[in-house]
Amino acid sequence: PKLIFITSDKQEYAVEAQSGVSAMETALDNLVPGIDGDCGGVAACGTCHVYVDQTWLAKTGGAQEGIEQDMLSLTDNSGASSRLSCQIVMSDELDGLVLTMPESQH
Ligand code: FES
Repeated sequence: PKLIFITSDKQEYAVEAQSGVSAMETALDNLVPGIDGDCGGVAACGTCHVYVDQTWLAKTGGAQEGIEQDMLSLTDNSGASSRLSCQIVMSDELDGLVLTMPESQH
């Protein structure tokens, strides 16, 4: 599936993701700047924060209750469309997904 990242300075990175791999890992594999993934994908660092494009939120779902929501609440500029990209697992259903990064990840 195709995955589109938009950095806080509006640079667009369209990359090919693998099903079953998280959006955070996809960003790292493709050297997309702004996603650090410091904790390795266990929802404990907040450096993979993204905003899910409104039209996609129904498919990705919102942040999961528990560890993901807790981490986001500690993360700058998080809101209703915020997710940790390490918790978004790519699939064909998410082909074309657009994720935007917050200003703090620049
Ligand atoms: Fe650390 Fe997602 S990689 S919270």
